[in-house]
Amino acid sequence: QIYTIILAGGVGTRLWPLSRTYYPKQFLQVNGHSLFQKTYLRAVENSNPSDIYVVTNELHHFLVKNQINELRYPIADEQILLEPSGKNTLPAIAWGVTEIAKKNPDSVIMVFPSDHLLGASAGEELRSAIPLCEHYLVTFGIIPDSPHTGYGYIAPGNPLEKGFQVHEFKEKPDEDTARQYVKDGYFWNSGMFLFSVQVFMNELIRYQPIIADIFEKGGSWDELPSVSIDYGILEHSNNVAVVPLSSSWSDLGNFNAWYEISGKDACDNSGNCMAIESYGNFVTTKDRFAALIGIKDTIVVETCDALLVCRRDMAERVGDLVKDLKKQG
Ligand code: GDD
Ligand code: MG
Repeated sequence: QIYTIILAGGVGTRLWPLSRTYYPKQFLQVNGHSLFQKTYLRAVENSNPSDIYVVTNELHHFLVKNQINELRYPIADEQILLEPSGKNTLPAIAWGVTEIAKKNPDSVIMVFPSDHLLGASAGEELRSAIPLCEHYLVTFGIIPDSPHTGYGYIAPGNPLEKGFQVHEFKEKPDEDTARQYVKDGYFWNSGMFLFSVQVFMNELIRYQPIIADIFEKGGSWDELPSVSIDYGILEHSNNVAVVPLSSSWSDLGNFNAWYEISGKDACDNSGNCMAIESYGNFVTTKDRFAALIGIKDTIVVETCDALLVCRRDMAERVGDLVKDLKKQG
C-alpha cells in the first residue's frame, strides 16, 4: 500500500494569461480533465483515496477540493495541507511525509508534481521501482530531446536490479553544460519521486537539518528556508536511484510545449481558427472567432481580460513578462 503526495502549490507563470495566480496551470483543462485531475487519477491507481495528500495553499483550497469531488472521489480536510506561504518543494514534501509518518512510519510514498502530462502506461513503470525504496530515493528519468535548462539532469551510474544508482544529479544547469549532459547520456529528472519515510527522513536530517528539526519539533512555518528537493537533497545525497521511464512525458511548461502535444490541422495550426497561408500557430480564444492570414509559428492566447501574441520559439519569455507585470503591480 503506497501513499501519495501531490504537489499543487506552483504558479506556472510561463502560461500567462491562461495560468493566473488564482487559477494556475495545474488546474487548467487539457483534453477533458485538468492536469491536477489527471495526476489525481494516476494517484488512485496506487493509493487509497484516504492515503492521498495534496499540498497547496489557501488560495487553491477549493479548486483542489472541487476538482477531486468532480472525479467522484472523497477527500478529507486533513488530506489537504495548506501552506501559509510557498517555500518550494522540499518543505511541502517534508510536511506531507510528516503527516503520513504519523499514520504509518513504515510507509512508501510516491510524490507527484501536478503540472505534467504522462502516458497511460506509466503507472506500471512507476510501481516497478518499489523494491528500490528500501535503500534509495528513487527518481524517474526521461530521455532528453534538447538541452533544456529548466530541468534537473541525472547521470546514471552502476546498474541496480531496476534502473541505476545515480552518479550525479545536477539541477537546472546552464545551456552549455546541459548540451554536454545530453551528449553524455544524462536523463532529465521527471519531477516524480518514490521513497520510504525512513530513507527520506535520513537524508533530510543529514542535508537539511533545519527543516527536519522544524517538522520534528514543530517550529514555525516562517522559519523554513525556501528550497526545492532537487537543490536541497538530490544534488547532495549518495542514495539516489534513477529508473528510466519509457512512457511519454511533457512538463507543459510553456505554450510551445502545449502546442507540441495538441492536435493540429494540415497546416500544423492548433486551435479553433480560420487560417489562410498560415502555418505552425497556436491559437486559443475565449468567446471570439479568430482568423489568421500569412502568420507563422505564432502563439495567440486570449482571455476575458488579456491578449498575448508571442513568437512560438520565444514562449519561454512569457515568464519574464509576468515578472515585469508584477513589478508594475
Ligand atoms: N505545495 C507546493 N508548494 N507545491 C509547489 C511549490 C510550493 O511552494 N512550489 C512548486 N510546487 C509544485 C508545482 O506546482 C509543481 O507541481 C511541482 O511542485 C514542481 O515544482 P516546479 O516549480 O514546477 O519545479 P520545476 O519545474 O522548476 O523543476 C522540477 O521539475 C522538473 C520537471 O518538470 C525539478 O524537480 C526538476 O529537476 C525537474 O526536471
Ligand atoms: Mg515544473
